[in-house]
Amino acid sequence: MSIYRPRRLRTTQAVRDLVAETVIAPSRLIMPHFVCEGLSGRQTIETMPGIERVCLESLLRDVEADLRLGIQSLILFGIPAVKDETGSGAWDDSGIVQRAVSAVKKRFPETCVITDVCLCEYTSHGHCGVVKDGSVLNDPTLELLARTARSHAAAGADMVAPSDMMDGRVGAIRNVLDDAGFSDTSIMAYSAKYCSAFYGPFRDAAGSAPQFGDRQSYQMDCRNGREAEREVLLDLDEGADIVMVKPALSYLDIIYRARQISPVPVCAYNVSGEYAMVKAAARLGLGDERRLTLEILTSIFRAGADMVISYHTRELLKNKWL
Ligand code: PBG
Repeated sequence: MSIYRPRRLRTTQAVRDLVAETVIAPSRLIMPHFVCEGLSGRQTIETMPGIERVCLESLLRDVEADLRLGIQSLILFGIPAVKDETGSGAWDDSGIVQRAVSAVKKRFPETCVITDVCLCEYTSHGHCGVVKDGSVLNDPTLELLARTARSHAAAGADMVAPSDMMDGRVGAIRNVLDDAGFSDTSIMAYSAKYCSAFYGPFRDAAGSAPQFGDRQSYQMDCRNGREAEREVLLDLDEGADIVMVKPALSYLDIIYRARQISPVPVCAYNVSGEYAMVKAAARLGLGDERRLTLEILTSIFRAGADMVISYHTRELLKNKWL
C-alpha cells in the first residue's frame, strides 16, 4: 500500500524550515514608537510592558539600535505637550512628530519612516476629528488631516498613514500632497480600521481616549466583512499605495479578503491590546512567550499580510526568535 505521507516533510527542523510556506522577514516588520514632547529620557507604559514613551534623543538611540537588529521601518506616534480643541499640534511644522521625522531621516536616511496621521492624540476631547455639538464632522476634518499629512511629508516622511477613518481622507491627502510637490510620499491607508476594545493600551500610552462617547460613528463595526472590502476599494480609488487592516488577530478573515481584492500591498496592525494580551499570558505562565508571539505573527502573514506593524518587532529580533 502506498499512501501519501505528509509526515515525511515534518521529520527534521531543516526539512520543516525548507518547506515552510510562511516566512517572517525582518524587512516586513514595522516598529511603532511613541515620541513625547517635553519628556526627557524614557517613561514606561504600564499597560504595554517593554514599550516606552521616549524623548527625541532616546528615539534616535532606539532607531539606531533597531537598525542594527535589521529593523528598517518604523511608525511614529506623537504625544504633544498641550492638546487643544482642534488638535493644532498635529500640523505644527515644529511639532513633536515633525521634529522626530526630520531628525530620524537626517541621521538614518536608510530608514522608512511612516507617520500616523490623526487628530486624537492632539485634541482635548480625544476624538479623531472636528467636534461640533457632540458629533465628529467629516468634511471639515479632511482639511486638517491633509494639512497634517503635508507637514509630515515636508519633514521628510516616506509614508503617511491616516488612521482617522473619515470618508474621503485618502483623496484629500493625495491632492494636497501632490499640490505641495510631495508626489513621491506614499499613503498607507488604515482602510479597514475597526472600533476595537484592543486599542486600550495605546490610548493609555498616547492619552488619546475619547473624553465623551466612543468612536463607533467613524470606526468600523466588527460584525461587518463586506464593508471592509468596500473601504479597501474606496481607498484604492482615492490613491492609497498600501491598504491596512486593523486590528489583526480578530480580523484574519478581513486580511485574507483584503489580500484577494487588493492589487497593492496589504499591511496589518497587530495592535496594543493584542500585544498586552501575550505579555499578560506570559507573565501568568499561561504560555511560552516566544511561541505565542511567533504563532500570532505567522498567522497574520499567512492570512495574507505583506507587512505587519507590531510592538513585538524589537523583542523578536533582539532575542533572535525568528
Ligand atoms: C489613532 C490610532 C489608534 C491606534 C493607532 N492609531 C487609536 C485609536 O484609534 O483609538 C491604535 C493602535 C494600537 O492599539 O496599537 N487614531
